[in-house]
Amino acid sequence: MENSAKNKKSNIVLALDFPYGNRNELLIKAIKILDETHEFLCAVKINRQLALPLGLFNGLKKILRLAKDYGLPAIMDCKINDVGHTNETIAKYYFEVGFDAVTANPFVGWKEGLKPVFEIAHKNSKGVILLVYMSHKGANEGYGQMVKAPEAEGLVSQYQIFARKAVEWNADGAVVGATYSKKIAEIKKIVKDKVPIYSPGIGIQGGKIEEAVKAGANFLIVGRTITLAKNPAKTAKEVRDTVNSILGDTL
Ligand code: XMP
Repeated sequence: MENSAKNKKSNIVLALDFPYGNRNELLIKAIKILDETHEFLCAVKINRQLALPLGLFNGLKKILRLAKDYGLPAIMDCKINDVGHTNETIAKYYFEVGFDAVTANPFVGWKEGLKPVFEIAHKNSKGVILLVYMSHKGANEGYGQMVKAPEAEGLVSQYQIFARKAVEWNADGAVVGATYSKKIAEIKKIVKDKVPIYSPGIGIQGGKIEEAVKAGANFLIVGRTITLAKNPAKTAKEVRDTVNSILGDTL
């Protein structure tokens, strides 16, 4: 991801999301958006909302091939969330079809949870990106709850524990909503430069590019602001240029 961001002079991860609709048009739409916007991106992120209608080893494989041709790493945002043996099988299929990283939910824990996913990923030079604090309003009900951590006295925020686990588990990224820039800054102090922060929620959800970047987001995940724009290429360029004007030469 770092190499791609440097080569492309962009830290924008395009979330290739489309609303529910005609399945036959989805592949055409996805390819068209990638063709139009690839030069302004450092990676592409795909959800099950695209994998389900297109099929993993059918339509999605074509999109992954195109992303590779454009030099873009591909993240499967599958939020792996089950017991170890099913998690491992899920991850294997995503890596086999060509994804470079998967997202996972730290709520399921390490032993018989995410350990097999990290092992299979790192054995194959793939990545695991952990959810640390989501961008939607209800995020505080889970990631924001105060809990008793075994190693600490008193109560600690769940997301602080997850941020520490991201470091301890050698995660390749931590997702923190761009809608909570103070939390990005707080989590950055825990993960430092060891785990890059990926921030979704820019634009339609209300997250502000400048606040997220200044708080310490390394990569911005942007979906509908680009995919539903009248002119996706123009919007992607504007988002990329805004970020780069804040970062200056540091990208
Ligand atoms: P939009 O259209 O809001 O899409 O730019 C955001 C993308 O990021 C994925 N994603 C999340 N979205 N909070 C979010 O709002 C999160 O914590 C989060 N984690 C991942 C989302 O699935 C969509 O593809």
